[in-house]
Amino acid sequence: ETTSSPPFGATLATLSKLLTDSRLQKPRIGIVCGSGLSTLVKSLKDVIQIPYSQLEGFGTSTVAGQRSMLAFGLMGKDNIPVVAMLGRFHPYEGHKPVTVTYGIRVMARLGVKDVIITNAAGSLTPEIPVGTIVVIRDHLALPNLTGMNPSFGPLTSPEYPRFLPLGDAYSTRLRRLAFLSSHDLQFNSSALAEGTYAWVAGPAYETPAEGRFLRNAGAHVVGMSTIPEVVAAREERMEVMVLSLVTNMVVIPEKYRSIKEEVEAELAGQPMQVPEIGTASHEEVLAVGREKAEVMRALVERIVERVPMD
Ligand code: 6GU
Repeated sequence: ETTSSPPFGATLATLSKLLTDSRLQKPRIGIVCGSGLSTLVKSLKDVIQIPYSQLEGFGTSTVAGQRSMLAFGLMGKDNIPVVAMLGRFHPYEGHKPVTVTYGIRVMARLGVKDVIITNAAGSLTPEIPVGTIVVIRDHLALPNLTGMNPSFGPLTSPEYPRFLPLGDAYSTRLRRLAFLSSHDLQFNSSALAEGTYAWVAGPAYETPAEGRFLRNAGAHVVGMSTIPEVVAAREERMEVMVLSLVTNMVVIPEKYRSIKEEVEAELAGQPMQVPEIGTASHEEVLAVGREKAEVMRALVERIVERVPMD
């Protein structure tokens, strides 16, 4: 089967018409802003925001708390030109892989060399509490292993490798800059952690058995985005860093509540006290995202300042 080639030419033509400020035309760094993290745009000077609806090839983000804009601007004290996606696309919204990865591929065609991808994620371990920013060092992508890899099917470009290596997907150079930047900002050592991101297709949150499965498989956080973008960015030969903001704990009870025991105790006239078990909610994810957006914004800004010094 053949796919029609994505409309890169049209998108780039529209962008070069809208970006009259020549400093913005060649962004050095690309940023993807996840749930609640689009306040990053406040760090941009001389910003130009373009709604995705004006750009060929982009979809419309349908997730509450996400905007739908491409933003160009200058960041940090040295005015580094960056391009930021405010709002992204997920397969669970019904977007095709070509749409989910489109922004990343446009960034590559604008000359971006380093991509910083942020997301909101659930933590699978008490060692990584809510509010922690996890610098991702590896991923476990169940959809990729079962035919939902964004590169499944014909290659988008003949230059891409058919068998993309992902052993070095997460740039050690950029990950170092994250920890150095955390030090610059005098963050507490516990503010940043390292870990493995499990990508699930969603949109339902995990059952306890699924959470336990992912934890036992070696993942530290779980989310529904990012990995298709990482795969596309590696195909495009950009360096990638992923920062996951932990917005909630995945509830993995050690032991199931036994309804059998409860009913039998009740029938024996000795009802049991049963603790309430929490569940994940999108409201909680957005609230923590908003609360910690400043920390993420400061960190990304400092990393961007450090990239050219590296
Ligand atoms: Cl708990 N699960 C998934 N799949 N995605 C999330 C999340 C949980 N929290 C934020 N994003």
